[in-house]
Amino acid sequence: MLRRLTAAAALLAAALTATPAAAADTPLRDLAEARGIYLGTAVTAGKLTGGYADVAGAQFGSVTPGNEMKWGSVEPTRGAYDWAGADRVVAFAEAHGQQVRGHTLVWHSQLPSWVSDGTWTADQLRTVMTDHIAAEAGRYKGRVDHWDVVNEPLNEDGTLRQSVFGATLGESYIADAFRAARAADPAAKLYLNDYSTDAIGAKSDGMYNLVKRLLAQGVPVDGVGFQAHLILGQVPASLEANLRRFADLGVDVAITELDIRMPLPATAEKLDRQKADYAAVLRACLAVTRCAGVTVWGFTDSDSWIPDFFPGEGAATPYDENLNPKPAHAGIAGTLAPVTPPAPGVCSVTYAVSSQWTGGFTAQVTLRNTGTAALAGWTVRWTQPAGQRVTQAWNATVTQTGAEVTATPLPYNTTLPPGGTVSFGFNGAWTGTNPPPAALTCT
Ligand code: G3I
Repeated sequence: MLRRLTAAAALLAAALTATPAAAADTPLRDLAEARGIYLGTAVTAGKLTGGYADVAGAQFGSVTPGNEMKWGSVEPTRGAYDWAGADRVVAFAEAHGQQVRGHTLVWHSQLPSWVSDGTWTADQLRTVMTDHIAAEAGRYKGRVDHWDVVNEPLNEDGTLRQSVFGATLGESYIADAFRAARAADPAAKLYLNDYSTDAIGAKSDGMYNLVKRLLAQGVPVDGVGFQAHLILGQVPASLEANLRRFADLGVDVAITELDIRMPLPATAEKLDRQKADYAAVLRACLAVTRCAGVTVWGFTDSDSWIPDFFPGEGAATPYDENLNPKPAHAGIAGTLAPVTPPAPGVCSVTYAVSSQWTGGFTAQVTLRNTGTAALAGWTVRWTQPAGQRVTQAWNATVTQTGAEVTATPLPYNTTLPPGGTVSFGFNGAWTGTNPPPAALTCT
């Protein structure tokens, strides 16, 4: 587990003084680190040479083996292990000062048939599973930063997937897997990981309740991974609020397998939309203190699973097939670029209820840059004094935790020139009285 702690302070200082032009040349991993998150990528061990290795090593601060740590790869027959691919990725990470995201210890897919097709009693299968975890997490003890201990445990409706593990052991297999992983590698952060849990909805509600139950039982769950295999133009509006509600349970969160696919061919217009989509996902992670990082599921279109699994779609990653950065790369770099927070007193903000009816109201908030320099990003915060709840917002991302409300920009109103104003609005629900906030702050 190599970390670049010694460089961290210098990087931060460099980033804070970097000009936007310098930021464009700074490796993505350094920009991310200076903002307090990691930027990772899935890699294929067999491709870690030449230009592919150069980009993977230079631009990303974490690597996830795309396939090499899966059960079918490392233990294709019982007790006979093949660590070659996994070893190669871990060695690469150590040579490049990168974190490792271990993926994955228990998953219903890419599971060898001796496990999936076996006839097991509950005790036998539990032992098979915990032996596997002990062997794999034990082998990489101290060298893997984050383990996806259990991958994709849920159905679309949020209920427990009836994999061989779920069907034979019920939900208890998840707790047992985490405890076995903790015993094998006490330093690794242990994650539950799933797809289609990015938005608030039935499946993420199922995950939320599962995490709550596990924590209540004292199961060592450190984090929840959100795969984020997304479709162009469909970054969920509730992504940030969803990450935040999990973080509020007391776990870390991470975007673990980000890609944004589009119908082929890619056009300039689609790639521009993709740039905005990548930026939106990065912003959601940056906005949530416990979001540890973002991992892209392959950094180049030549190493993406999408064309094989979604015929006619692709171009889902930040680099094209020739390792040239795409607009999405600039979207990531731009979002990770150091922001100079406005000095106190350089913005003012007003709040007005424009209409109100029984139980509901509409409010307008206007932010003005009263300074002499452009604001690169802004945040408006206030406290709702009488239990009002924001239900819908426009022209800003508005999130609420308890009484605390935070508004952040959308891509088109992030930058505010001197003297410029931004107005956004929201609908809210109220009961009793609907007084305005005592104060709004902008930073
Ligand atoms: O290794 C064999 C090779 O020997 C054979 O010639 C070739 C022929 O098809 O297949 C190769 O295996 C493929 C493997 O990737 C390695 O390239 C499998 O067919 C293929 O199914 C497998 O796909 C992987 C997929 O998981 C399987 O579900 C993708 O690479 C991998 O990116 C993808 O990753 C998953 C995450 O683990 C979990 N979340 C979803 C994500 C996307 O499906």
